[in-house]
Amino acid sequence: MALLEIEDLHVELPGTARPILDGVSLTVSAGEFVALVGESGSGKSVTARAALGLLPPGARTAGHVRVGGTDLLTSDATTLRDIRTATASMIFQDPRASINPVRRVGDFLTESLRRNHGWPRARANARAVELLAAVGLPDPARHLTQYPHELSGGMLQRVMIAGALTVEPELLLCDEPTTALDVTTQAEILAILGRLRRERGLGVLFITHDVDLAAAVADRVYVMYAGRIVETAAAMDLFGRPRHPYTSGLLGSTPQLEGPAIRLTPVPGAPMSLLESAPGCAFAARCHFAEPGTCDETPPTLQPYGPTLAACHRAGELTDLPGAPGSQKGRVT
Ligand SMILES: Nc1ncnc2c1ncn2[C@@H]1O[C@H](COP(=O)(O)OP(=O)(O)OP(=O)(O)O)[C@@H](O)[C@H]1O
Ligand SMILES: [Mg+2]
Repeated sequence: MALLEIEDLHVELPGTARPILDGVSLTVSAGEFVALVGESGSGKSVTARAALGLLPPGARTAGHVRVGGTDLLTSDATTLRDIRTATASMIFQDPRASINPVRRVGDFLTESLRRNHGWPRARANARAVELLAAVGLPDPARHLTQYPHELSGGMLQRVMIAGALTVEPELLLCDEPTTALDVTTQAEILAILGRLRRERGLGVLFITHDVDLAAAVADRVYVMYAGRIVETAAAMDLFGRPRHPYTSGLLGSTPQLEGPAIRLTPVPGAPMSLLESAPGCAFAARCHFAEPGTCDETPPTLQPYGPTLAACHRAGELTDLPGAPGSQKGRVT
């Protein structure tokens, strides 16, 4: 059984033209590093928050969101709290926005252990020191007495990861945790997440709009567009041999850090807002390969193409879409 199992999740708000999430299915197993990528507004954060049972107020929902086998959509408040304080934790893009600036790092780290688990202060402090050391902070005991403004962005994001680990979660939801950081710090944070996954068997759902980063760190990748999963595969297959024109476009639009300068080919046009809907494929209006009469009329469903699942009417013919520049082709299908 997967640790996180989202099955055909629909989330709809009144007054919008299309659902925020439209039949999203996604799994994360213990010890697995799964990336969720897509442009702004595609529904990545809503998906991750659903895994904590946090859905937009007033939303109508259908489907299942199971964490450790418990369906959050039908759970009571006590069960949801138990999941959030013992099974699943989340870290966010901007650590400064999610930590109280006038409280010491030590209080932030020990609060849940003391309040929800009844640990005495000394034991909670010892655990906080252990966790700060585990996320690579050099002088953990001293950091306990510091305030957030005394730490750099990278150090503070390590504190947030330590905070997410205090309850020993099985599932870590990371919502663009490295976007605000410089490239070196980003690499260090990713190394920490990778190590935690290996050593503790954490399941990680890693959200990013950077598909190259996703392909480099994740076992599997889901690509989201306008509230739907449009392609999913093992990272190597998705990176080398994308089957959805949107995925291929995303790969071409990410600047490269190394190697020769390449011309960027961003995905043309803008993502679809919640006030717009399309009877067929939501990407058709921006797609170079869209065929009138098919793509703009019938919504495609996820179908297997070799090792990849893609929701594209033309995926069977589009066997040679460009992958990431310089990447090896994925497994031959
Ligand atoms: N609480 C809410 N109330 C109303 N609309 C919401 C709410 N939360 C999200 N939305 C809308 O749902 C859509 C998906 O939002 P979401 O935050 O999941 O996007 P995202 O993929 O995380 O984008 P980004 O890359 O910018 O973080 C957006 O159109 C957003 O405006
Ligand atoms: Mg988001």
